[in-house]
Formats: sequence, structure tokens, C-alpha cells
Amino acid sequence: MFSHLPKPQQDPILSLSIEYRQDQRTDKVDLGIGVYRNDDGDTPIMGAISSAQKLIADTQTTKSYVGLAGSEPFNQAMLSLVLGDSDAISRSAVIQTPGASGALRMLADLIKQAEPSARVWISDPSYVNHQPVMEAAGLEVKFYRYFNTETKLVDTSAMLEDLKQANSNDVVLLHGCCHNPSGADMDMNAWKAVTELAKLQGFTPFIDVAYQGFGDGLEEDAQGLRYMVNEVPEAMISASCSKNFGLYRERTGVAIVVGKETQHAQYAKGKLLTLARATYTMPPDHGAALVEKVLSDDVLKKQWLDELNMMRERLTTLRVSLVNALIAETGSHRFDFIAQHKGMFTLLGLTPEQMTQLKTECGVYAVADGRVNIAALSEKDIPFVAKAIAAIAGQE
Ligand SMILES: Cc1ncc(COP(=O)(O)O)c(C=O)c1O
Repeated sequence: MFSHLPKPQQDPILSLSIEYRQDQRTDKVDLGIGVYRNDDGDTPIMGAISSAQKLIADTQTTKSYVGLAGSEPFNQAMLSLVLGDSDAISRSAVIQTPGASGALRMLADLIKQAEPSARVWISDPSYVNHQPVMEAAGLEVKFYRYFNTETKLVDTSAMLEDLKQANSNDVVLLHGCCHNPSGADMDMNAWKAVTELAKLQGFTPFIDVAYQGFGDGLEEDAQGLRYMVNEVPEAMISASCSKNFGLYRERTGVAIVVGKETQHAQYAKGKLLTLARATYTMPPDHGAALVEKVLSDDVLKKQWLDELNMMRERLTTLRVSLVNALIAETGSHRFDFIAQHKGMFTLLGLTPEQMTQLKTECGVYAVADGRVNIAALSEKDIPFVAKAIAAIAGQE
């Protein structure tokens, strides 16, 4: 049965970190893998999460099943976190999922059931897993232009031009904030323009929000998506607690469906639960229990918000330091865009060959498409990384 299967291909990001570990050089930096790191290079458990963990360990009395939709208090807390006090909440339904990855797949399966001919429009470039997940659900994937390689910002007019081809059966996948991999985010005008187009063409927005709080702030990062879901009749959202609660391995997230009417959202929820039943049945509980505890306790919530703000400020400071070091190294402002980007990632605009050179000649490891994880930098690495980028990027 298995002998004719093809030899598995290595995951490019994971094989990069294996290569990094085997590199004998002392001067080396790994900017590949997509996790937040502090200045010591660690991904620590957040203080508020540690406290919640102790409280839960002391008070939890059973490990019995929770339910197909996971924890309802967690689901409602996440709905408020993502949608604030949006009117759309009254016509929304939510289920807990194993990370945003689980939400992406459950919502993809839901789309296939509800509208088998739907095509899913994905930004070019996008999160590495968007296309495989949609295709695994049997959906056709189309790409819309998003990142302007000259300005290193969102090319809103090209995006709108491509999305004019999206029809009323189609779904348009957007990044809520902190676009992965480019770091270039839609501004409010772009959110409004895409919303108008959605109403005109009738396509359904699907917003993936994996970094809420890492861009401009917890509330600020949700403004675009909140505006959109309030305006359009139907929408879907996948949200992750991996980054903003540091719960990567606990697989914690939600899938949200906004319907024309409350009843439609409930039908969609019913279908999602049937799909979940046939897949993983129930989501893991621990991460959701921690988030529920943090968000329902004023002291823990304040501690978590302070920690999240510190993480965001660290990202902003690192971006500015890197830009300043690059100005000093190159004598130009060609990398100033790095400070305009949001969240953990930035696309440097180097070719795959230059990214290989960066790795082999300078010991700076990053993804071949030019994506660097700003959160993996420490202040002390910045002069070294700037020198390497300047050397490989050459003169313009
Ligand atoms: C845009 C985007 N969506 C979804 C995910 C998946 O997140 P999770 O760990 O919650 O499955 C990621 C993770 O890197 C991401 O960058």
C-alpha cells in the first residue's frame, strides 16, 4: 500500500533550522522559523499564562470531554477579542479549533459543503499553508496581486483590479493584520475599498487573524476586519492564540462565521461541528482554558495586555534599529520600508539566490522567498545582520 508513495519533501522552514543547528560558525542568526523570541532568543511562557496555568492546575477537577464546539466561555471571549462590540456579533457563531490552522481547514471544508464551485482568492504572496489547506478541502485557489515589489507596500489598485474577477460564489482570503510573509498591511482605505467590492461582486471575505496585538495594538489591529464584517452580509474568520498568548503548541484558536441572519450562522455552526466530529471530534482544552482564565480575570488580563504591548514595542524598536543600521551600512534609505511593515515578518526583496548567499556566506538564515522574522533578532545581532544584508544586496 505504501511502497509507491513518493519520498516526502522536507519542509523548507524546518530544514532551514536543522541546517542552522548544524552550522559550526559562531556568528550566525536564524531568522527563519515563525515564532516570537525575546532578546535572549527564547520563546517564554507569558507571565499571565503561567499564573493561569497554576490556578487551573490547582482547581481543575476533571479531564472529561468538554464538547464539540470546545469551551463556550472561551468562544465568547474570543468573539469579543476579535469583533469587539461589533453589531456583527449578533449574527455570528463560533467554535473552538485546534489553532487557526484547524479553523482554516474547518472553514475550508464548510465552504466546500456550502458552495462546491467556490474559488478561494489568496494574496500573492501569502502564508505558506493557505493554498495547501484550501486545496486539501478540494477548493480551487486563485491569486490576487497584493505586494508591490517596488514600494514594498500593498498594491491596493492591483489587488482591487484582480478581485473584480471574484464572483458571488467565491471567497477572498485576507490577512486581518501583520501580513505573513510580507509585513505589508492594508490601510483603512484599502479595507473600505475591498468591502465595497465585496458588496458589489458578492464574494465572501474570509479573514485570517493570527497576530492580533502585534501590529499597532489589540484594538487597532482589528479595525479593518471589524469594519468589513459589519458591512458585508456574510464572512468567515479564523483566529489564532499561538502568537498573542504564546500558546503555539497548545493548538488554540477559533473559527467564526458571520451570517446574513443569526439563524444562518447557527446552521453554519452545525455544519462545522459535523465536520469537526469527522475530523478531530473535539479541540484540545488546555490552551483555551488558559485564555478563558486570562480574559475573565481583570488582574491577569492587565498583565497579559502589558506583556503583549511589550512584545509589540520590541518588534517596533527592532525594526527601527535595523533600518538605522542599514542606513549606516548602505548609505541609502532603500530598506526604510522595514519600519513601515507590521508584525513579525518582512519581505526583504532579495532573490532566492541572494538568500542562499546570505546563509552560506554570512550565516544569516532566512526563508528563500526573502522573508525574515524580525522577532528572532536581538539588539546585539543587528549590526551583524545589517552588514550581511548590505553586502549581499549590493549597490542599487
Ligand atoms: C497567517 C497565519 N494564519 C494561520 C497560522 C496558523 O496558526 P496556528 O498556530 O494558530 O495554527 C499562522 C501561523 O504562523 C499564520 O501565520
